[in-house]
Amino acid sequence: MKWTTVCKRDQVQEDFPFSAKVDDKEVGIYLLDGEYFALEDVCPHAYALLSQGFVEDGMVECPLHEAAFDIRTGKCLREPGERDLDVYPVRIVDDHVQLNMNEQGA
Ligand code: FES
Repeated sequence: MKWTTVCKRDQVQEDFPFSAKVDDKEVGIYLLDGEYFALEDVCPHAYALLSQGFVEDGMVECPLHEAAFDIRTGKCLREPGERDLDVYPVRIVDDHVQLNMNEQGA
């Protein structure tokens, strides 16, 4: 298992997810009720970074055409999202957020 440090804990806020690039992939890091989640960040519909979208009630809304995804599971909740997002395991080590990009899936 390869864990990669992507940011410090305080760089992720509930209303302001963190956008990271890991192994050439864009990943959005979210904080929800004290827990961290990592999702594929490029919207499957066209090209927009979901981490720049609107976060509410455990979901993120695409800033371009308003598709919505569940932050905990990556599930597409509203079209035109087209499909569920890849999710990645997250762990906290000291003050850092780490991702495992080799393991996808909720
Ligand atoms: S680019 Fe995200 S809904 Fe169209």
